[in-house]
Amino acid sequence: MDTRPIGIFDSGLGGLCAVKAVFKNLPNEDIIYFGDTQRVPYGSRSEKTIEAFASDDIKFLEQFDCKLIMAACGTVSSVAVNAAAKIKEPFVGVVKPSCLAAVRATKNGRIGVMATSASINSGAYEREIRRLSPRAEVFGVSCPVLVTLVENNWIDEDNFISKEIIARYIKPLLDEDTDTIILGCTHFPHLAPIIQSVAGAGVTLIDSGFEAVMQAKKMLEENNLENEKSHIGTARYFVSDKTQNFSMIAKTLLGTDISDSVTFSETAR
Ligand code: DGL
Repeated sequence: MDTRPIGIFDSGLGGLCAVKAVFKNLPNEDIIYFGDTQRVPYGSRSEKTIEAFASDDIKFLEQFDCKLIMAACGTVSSVAVNAAAKIKEPFVGVVKPSCLAAVRATKNGRIGVMATSASINSGAYEREIRRLSPRAEVFGVSCPVLVTLVENNWIDEDNFISKEIIARYIKPLLDEDTDTIILGCTHFPHLAPIIQSVAGAGVTLIDSGFEAVMQAKKMLEENNLENEKSHIGTARYFVSDKTQNFSMIAKTLLGTDISDSVTFSETAR
C-alpha cells in the first residue's frame, strides 16, 4: 500500500483524458496534474525543446513525492526519451500501452495513428507497433489543428467546422482501410465522438490516455503501490498560465467543476 499521489502531466488540457480514466478506474488514487498551458503546444517544437519542457514538467512533479509519473502526452512520450530515462519513479508514457491496445484490436493489421507532428516525425508509434507486430501496416497523420480545437473547447459533436477538419485529417487513414486508429495525442480523445462519427462504427479508436492509465493500474497492482481501498481519491491541478481558461474547459472535459483545485504555478525551470 502506498498513499503517495500519482503525478500526471501534459502540455495543457489533453492529459485530462487520463485524469478521467483515473477517476473511473483508480478511484482511490490522489492525482497531482500539471498542464504547461504557458507553453502549449509542444507538438510543433524541436526535439531539444520538447526534451527541455519535459524535464521541467517532471522536476515540477517530483516535488510532490509521486509514486508514479505519467506523461499523458504523446509528444513527450514519443520524443523526450532522455528526460523520461532520468525519472527515478516508475514511469508510464502513452506510446507503448496504446500500441499494444491497437495491435490487440486490429483485425486487418492496418493501424492508423493521429498525433502531433513531433510524434509522427519521431516514428515512435510506428516502431513500437512494428516491434509488437512486425507485419502490421502503420499509417501516421499529423493533426496539429486538433490540439487548438480542444484548447478552445470546440469539441461539441455538432460543431461542423471541427467535423470538417477531422474529416480532412482522417481521410488518408480511411483510404488506407485502417480498422484501428490510435488517438496518439492526448488532446484527441476529447474529440472522440466526432472522430468516431467521421470514421464510422467499423473503426476502433484507441484512447492513449485511457491505455496509459490501464498500464499504470497494472504497475500499481503488481508492485503493491495502490492506495487504501477506503480512501476517496483527490485531484490537484497546476497550470503555468492563468487558471480560468483551464478550469472552464476542464469542466466540459471532466464533467465536473474543478476551479477550486486549480493553482497557477511556474514550471520548475
Ligand atoms: N497532448 C499532447 C500530446 O499528446 C501535446 C499536444 C501539443 O501540445 O501539441 O501530444
